[in-house]
Amino acid sequence: MDLKRRMQECDEFFRLPELAHLVPQRRRAALEQLEQTGGYLQTAEEILIGAKLAWRNHARCVGRKHWRSLKLLDARRVRSARDLAEVCWQHLQMATNGGAIQSMITVGPPRQPDGREFHIINSQLIRYAGYRNGDGTVIGDAANIRLTEFATELGWRGAGTPFDILPLLISTPDEPIQWFDIPPELAREVELEHPEFDWFAELGLRWHALPAVSNMNLEVGGMTYPLAPFNGWYLGAEIGARNLSDTNRYNMLPLIAEMMCLDTGSERNLWRDQALVELNRAVLYSFRRAGVYIVDHHTVAKQFCDHVKREEAEGRACPTDWTWINPPISSGLTPTFHRYYDPPDLDIRPNFVRRDFSGDGGI
Ligand code: ARG
Repeated sequence: MDLKRRMQECDEFFRLPELAHLVPQRRRAALEQLEQTGGYLQTAEEILIGAKLAWRNHARCVGRKHWRSLKLLDARRVRSARDLAEVCWQHLQMATNGGAIQSMITVGPPRQPDGREFHIINSQLIRYAGYRNGDGTVIGDAANIRLTEFATELGWRGAGTPFDILPLLISTPDEPIQWFDIPPELAREVELEHPEFDWFAELGLRWHALPAVSNMNLEVGGMTYPLAPFNGWYLGAEIGARNLSDTNRYNMLPLIAEMMCLDTGSERNLWRDQALVELNRAVLYSFRRAGVYIVDHHTVAKQFCDHVKREEAEGRACPTDWTWINPPISSGLTPTFHRYYDPPDLDIRPNFVRRDFSGDGGI
């Protein structure tokens, strides 16, 4: 990104009402340093406010009502891949918080003026491996086949189960890419069971508790932080109506329908839909039972509508991508479906911006 644009973002950042309490010299000093050195040192307060606003601005997030509750782990001084992995473990521990998920962001060193950077290669801190068999079938999460192959080339060996947790791959300017196994006790998982179907637990399905996105740059005040993993808590449908049910992911609906003794010979009896609802009930039920916080799509949609109303009342636009904030199941039953929004604004800053490479085919 060119310096002129970054200086404009810096200027606009320090003029935001959320930073009105800073002395005016701060904006001028930041601009001057940015112009002369290609970067400037932000305070932890500036970064935290910036990260909260990035969340609030992100048009694809339906959980934005909670933007004020974000916590910051400031890791800007950390330089080695090994130490950055340690910081990520700390993030997992603090954010998982025994199941009472805490929204959190870890911020590593900013992109250097020469363009060199620190970043995580995985799309999330916790990801399941995907292995392609000789016959074209897949074990595990097909979305992560490329990442799995990459980790394997670096010397990692997966056990070959459908739920092998991939190592964290970290890229730094001065070291070759390194991988680190996540300490198992830090990757909390929930085994799925169903409130009525006893056979459901035998399917051996599970999912991890924490959705921690790690392939997006945090852009704040003209600075870019490529290593900035952040998390909220899961919306049940992300797991039940996408990860475990998409045909190019775990594709579990045919098996669940078969176990439910449904006739899968015709689409018209809606066997897929019936199986989908039961899978989603199992996800919400199991997380709740395990004491891991999760939200259902009805509740989150209501919360989002409250949020939009509140933003309006405060005189702010709330750029929103209708296609992303509506749930992949029963959308028409949720209030987010039945209205229009301020159009997504790709240039609004602060924001989270997806990095090009990730070994997951863009999920
Ligand atoms: N959809 C992604 C997944 O299923 C997670 C994206 C972030 N989700 C969230 N609730 N913060 O893993």
